[in-house]
Amino acid sequence: MNESSFPAWLADQAADRAERGLARRLAHSDEQRLLDLAGNDYLGLARDPRVVAGAVAAARAYGAGAGASRLVSGTLSIHTELERAMAAFAGFPAALCFSTGYHANLSVVQALADADTLIVSDAHIHASMIDACRLTRATVTVTPHNDVAAVARALGGRSQRRALVLAETIYSVLGDAAPLAELAELVAARDAVLIADEAHAFGVGGPGGRGLLAASGLAGRPDVVATGTLSKSFGSQGGLVLGSAAVREHLVNRARPFIYDTGLAPAAAGAALAALRVLEAAPELPGRVRRNAAFLADAAGVAAPAGAVLSVPMPGPREALAAVAAAAGHGLRIGCFRPPSTPDGVSRLRLTAHAHHGDDDLAMAAKVLRLVISAPDEPAAPGGGEQ
Ligand SMILES: Cc1ncc(COP(=O)(O)O)c(C=O)c1O
Repeated sequence: MNESSFPAWLADQAADRAERGLARRLAHSDEQRLLDLAGNDYLGLARDPRVVAGAVAAARAYGAGAGASRLVSGTLSIHTELERAMAAFAGFPAALCFSTGYHANLSVVQALADADTLIVSDAHIHASMIDACRLTRATVTVTPHNDVAAVARALGGRSQRRALVLAETIYSVLGDAAPLAELAELVAARDAVLIADEAHAFGVGGPGGRGLLAASGLAGRPDVVATGTLSKSFGSQGGLVLGSAAVREHLVNRARPFIYDTGLAPAAAGAALAALRVLEAAPELPGRVRRNAAFLADAAGVAAPAGAVLSVPMPGPREALAAVAAAAGHGLRIGCFRPPSTPDGVSRLRLTAHAHHGDDDLAMAAKVLRLVISAPDEPAAPGGGEQ
């Protein structure tokens, strides 16, 4: 059989990945009872009985699935209730929910960009935004991470009629915040639109977890559109775009990943709505996440992050994997990012802080982190949380 024929090339690629320490494995969190510093359930709501009850009640009332695209027969009153509640929470006039945050990002960029659009995208933007850019016929300029001057140059030299600037309010790999005020000033001056992904900021940053756009007074501005996910702080599954009523209407008509996708599952909508009510009733939760993040950052020897995500650079992918395995051996689940998931090619440990971790959890985590970050070649145990 020819080396390049199927499936021989799959085996070639697998061997090459293994050789370079870059093979990805699925991480089964239900099989190991580890303290979790890898997942994105920042507020611990995925297993909160009130949130689970919200999912169950919605499934009983509306069924297990929405049954069709939102434009056919798949719009349920739980969708519109969720959209109104999320828009009010985040400070936007309107919201539209999607089956994932990935779809939300694909949709908003694809629907707002055409061949006469310049997209200025941060080098550390999430894969869903990168894929979204690839779905458009727009011209895409990638600027160095958080480089406002580069964004200004790109916008200043544009020949396209329209422009979009893409950022994450808190970056999913580096854990730092975008220079939102400066970016918002630039888009206003250049008749552009800022699309800011609040996936890692909702529930963690801003007043009561309303996100960094709300914290910067930018939520609800007509030239600012936010995206978000229901799968992190809200403990559920699904995505959101938040903006003006005109943006919502445009997406309903033009966003292919929305139009040709079955509506968000009722249980996911019900869970997210219940999680939002829990967060609104406990506005101290985001502060707890940030306090725990600062504590863990100190133990890991890195600066305190903007939200829940801590990024710890490692010498290489093997050292990162060894640290993940060693931590698991000591009862701690941590994550790691290796190329190609890191745009700068640096392998990192990715740690996430959670509101529900108490002092004993944090003390144990700090002890393990000190051990595995300084000496990652501890005895290996089955690991997880890699990407
Ligand atoms: C920054 C960012 N945006 C979007 C997404 C996609 O969200 P979802 O998991 O809901 O598809 C993620 C999730 O990993 C993310 O980290």
